[in-house]
Amino acid sequence: MRVAILISGSGSNMVALAQSMTGDHPARPCLVLSNDPAASGLAKAQAMGIATAAVDHRPFKGDRAAFEAALLEPLLAAKPDLIALAGFMRVLTADFVRRFEGRMLNIHPSLLPKYKGLHTHARAIEAGDAQAGCTVHEVTAALDDGPILGQARVPILPGDTPDTLAARVLPMEHQLYPLVLRRVAEGNRAPVSLP
Ligand code: GRF
Repeated sequence: MRVAILISGSGSNMVALAQSMTGDHPARPCLVLSNDPAASGLAKAQAMGIATAAVDHRPFKGDRAAFEAALLEPLLAAKPDLIALAGFMRVLTADFVRRFEGRMLNIHPSLLPKYKGLHTHARAIEAGDAQAGCTVHEVTAALDDGPILGQARVPILPGDTPDTLAARVLPMEHQLYPLVLRRVAEGNRAPVSLP
């Protein structure tokens, strides 16, 4: 299976996913695509020998449909079977999502359905939650809302800040996303929990 990975920044989840697709893994990365030509993840992908492309969203000034039409060009050319959003920070329209319904995954840094949207760690700390974590889900038209494929939990500790909590969650993202991707590539969509 061919997997296209969409990023906006450091691409640490992209690296974890790409590194996992080796040996008897049924999938391989076919493209790393960013909405920011300066995303440091692009250089990491190139260093791993993965094809890359960038479509800067800024010239489109909020014309989502036009940006997505431009994004589709390199994406469709790569002929992906699955699309993994990994630190991709642009909201996609329902039309775009529908085109890949059931074949697009995302990782979100909260225990969905709690804390959809941004600033998830700050909100969990503020709420006094005992746990935080991350969720891999199928992407649907509603933001951060599709069927859950996997979750990883970490404790929230006294004195945690959003940064210290993010630092505890991120390594779990790097374990969860590759695990879920392999299961999906093998045709298994039963939700998985870590630890
Ligand atoms: C991570 O917290 C991820 O959950 C969120 O974006 C952040 C950066 O991800 N989606 P990455 O390092 O660019 O993969």
